[in-house]
Amino acid sequence: MSWLEATVIENRHWTEALFSLRVEAPPLVFQAGQFVRIALDIDGERVARPFSFVNPPQDPVLEFYGIVVPEGPLSPRLERLRAGERLYVASNPAGFLVLAEVPDAETLWLVSTGTGIAPYLSILRTGTPWQRFRNVVLVHAVRHPKELVYQEVIGKIPNLRYVTFVSREAHPGSLAGRIPAAIGDGRLEAAAGVALDAASSHVMLCGNPQMLKDAAAALAGRGMRKHRRRNPGHITVESFW
Ligand SMILES: Cc1cc2nc3c(=O)[nH]c(=O)nc-3n(C[C@H](O)[C@H](O)[C@H](O)COP(=O)(O)OP(=O)(O)OC[C@H]3O[C@@H](n4cnc5c(N)ncnc54)[C@H](O)[C@@H]3O)c2cc1C
Ligand SMILES: NC(=O)c1ccc[n+]([C@@H]2O[C@H](COP(=O)([O-])OP(=O)(O)OC[C@H]3O[C@@H](n4cnc5c(N)ncnc54)[C@H](OP(=O)(O)O)[C@@H]3O)[C@@H](O)[C@H]2O)c1
Repeated sequence: MSWLEATVIENRHWTEALFSLRVEAPPLVFQAGQFVRIALDIDGERVARPFSFVNPPQDPVLEFYGIVVPEGPLSPRLERLRAGERLYVASNPAGFLVLAEVPDAETLWLVSTGTGIAPYLSILRTGTPWQRFRNVVLVHAVRHPKELVYQEVIGKIPNLRYVTFVSREAHPGSLAGRIPAAIGDGRLEAAAGVALDAASSHVMLCGNPQMLKDAAAALAGRGMRKHRRRNPGHITVESFW
């Protein structure tokens, strides 16, 4: 692994805490859904964290979507980066939240909380989901409506079923509460308009680690289990912390 020098083209701020970095870097080969470590030098030490690519692999400009964790060492500094400033990108993208690891199914569910939507924005801007799955559902759960980001990107994706949750205030058009409860009581599949079951579905889960556990438990109630190469199943996960 080596470090590549990259330059910020734009740092878009969606809210006080949410930002999207667009970055010019030497070409990187990766699969949609993968992540790469990005880094800054802080007090003489290189501090690196994994970030999922938001851009699809064919797009030469790299894009990362982040949230400020106020007590964290890296994210508050990434949020403050301005156009022209430098950061480092590792040369070795990695990760298994990719469609090449997902078995065939009728319906692909891309389920996220918070910044966990990032890898799906990359996957959804490749042609592969619609070549392989009859239905594609994007689920995004956030605390507040202003955190329903990338609307202009999502709105341009044809034939996408898009279901949102807003958990900390009422928001017409979004489900209330949390994803695992809505899996359990059928509200999620009703909102998506397709069945969520072992016979028809593969579910990718990304974001808050407790959501991954709770959602996997709710899906187990529908006869679904983690997918492994040697023991195929219906759930693929990536935890962000
Ligand atoms: C495979 C992978 C991919 C990731 N992709 C992204 C991404 O695309 N965008 C992104 O913002 N983060 C992503 N993360 C998390 C990211 O690597 C950092 O942890 C995050 O930016 C905070 O960095 P920090 O140094 O400020 O704090 P850290 O010391 O890394 O984290 C401190 C605490 O902050 C909380 N936290 C960390 N990340 C998040 C988050 N994303 N949302 C809410 N709370 C969080 C957790 O409680 C964590 O223990 C990813 C992590 C992994 C493992
Ligand atoms: N100004 C700032 O700097 C600022 C502002 C906001 C956040 N932050 C940081 O960002 C972190 C939170 O980020 P976030 O809001 O993107 O992530 P989050 O806490 O994971 O919340 C995102 C969504 O996931 C839901 N969720 C949480 N736990 C779940 C579970 N076990 N099962 C199902 N759903 C679950 C939340 O619902 P609930 O609402 O029900 O929990 C919410 O709808 C904070 O810890 C803080 O460090 C910083």
